[in-house]
Amino acid sequence: MSAGVARADDRTPSAGDGPLLRTPLTELTGVRHPIVQTGMGWVAGPRLVSAAADAGALGILASATMTPDQLRAAVREVRSRTDRPFGVNLRADAGDAAERVRIVVDEGVRVASFALAPSRELIARLKDAGVVVIPSVGARRHAEKVAAWGADAVIVQGGEGGGHTGSVATTVLLPQVVDAVDIPVIAAGGFFDGRGLVAALAYGAAGIAMGTRFLLTSDSTVPPAVQDRYLAAAVADVVVTTKVDGLPHRMLRSELVRALERSGRAAALVRAVRHAASFRKLSGLSWAGMVRDGLAMKHGTDLTWSQVLLAANTPMLLKASMVDGRTDLGVMASGQVAGVIEDLPSCADLVDRIMAGAQRTLAGLPH
Ligand SMILES: Cc1cc2nc3c(=O)[nH]c(=O)nc-3n(C[C@H](O)[C@H](O)[C@H](O)COP(=O)(O)O)c2cc1C
Repeated sequence: MSAGVARADDRTPSAGDGPLLRTPLTELTGVRHPIVQTGMGWVAGPRLVSAAADAGALGILASATMTPDQLRAAVREVRSRTDRPFGVNLRADAGDAAERVRIVVDEGVRVASFALAPSRELIARLKDAGVVVIPSVGARRHAEKVAAWGADAVIVQGGEGGGHTGSVATTVLLPQVVDAVDIPVIAAGGFFDGRGLVAALAYGAAGIAMGTRFLLTSDSTVPPAVQDRYLAAAVADVVVTTKVDGLPHRMLRSELVRALERSGRAAALVRAVRHAASFRKLSGLSWAGMVRDGLAMKHGTDLTWSQVLLAANTPMLLKASMVDGRTDLGVMASGQVAGVIEDLPSCADLVDRIMAGAQRTLAGLPH
């Protein structure tokens, strides 16, 4: 059913980096390689996104942690650094989602990605303007829903992936979604090398999307001491906790995470209010705006108000680590792959390495 069949094209080698693998992802977005650098709050800024785009991957700018003005400036900065296509990650439930969509359209961004399923109206508005819409989902029924609403492709994240995540592993979720929808499916959660790319293509995916692997590059702005924490982590050091914002969240185990796991509900709420207040200041949102976002987030879910309030924690806790380098005060969202990643290549070296590894793997498969 999937449109994800890959075709090795030996006749059109790219500049010095081997034969190309053309898939519905490369066709749809105009990128050279079927690899996506996902939108990660505070991590996927202009420098990482433009380096990923220059390497031939689809770089996606994270915008939930930016004000609309910052988003516009960041899009322009990426554009000034590269002429390759790139995307913007949006929160579909943000109160100002329509304004952000307008910026994406005005600025001629190629791809809109979404952390949560966007509405039918948002998808239609973007598609009418020629923007490729690629929501991220963690369950088959969400993939079916966004496909029915006209999404062009979908990123499917298995439970081993970093940040907010589900409980179904990529190896089970991916074939399930590939069989359920007719649009290209991009596999996320646990990918870091060429073997993984070939495996995803074999499942019928149109490419892979990676967060943690791109966080751990020399083009990433995450402070070196924080990157070292990821490099030192074993697979068992990457845990899922609901204590940060009430939702299953995959991250490195740290002293802070241990303390959160021990702390009671009241302490968590006090902390949540404090962090929500500083995020409000930083993001330029009014309290009314935050309540509106909270209501949108709560809509159709089983979240309690205290969970919604806790969710306001996440951006500040992520910023503390990813920007300020304070791992004692912040969280380090991470996929399980942190346990097998041991170096910090540039985006260009990483993408070349993955593509060369994929070719070797393909050539080595039994005939
Ligand atoms: C530090 C970090 C921050 C993230 N922030 C976001 C985000 O703001 N929006 C989003 O849609 N996904 C976010 N994610 C999830 C990633 O976009 C991606 O789906 C995930 O990392 C894929 O799994 P992997 O880490 O195994 O590659 C984040 C992941 C990490 C590691």
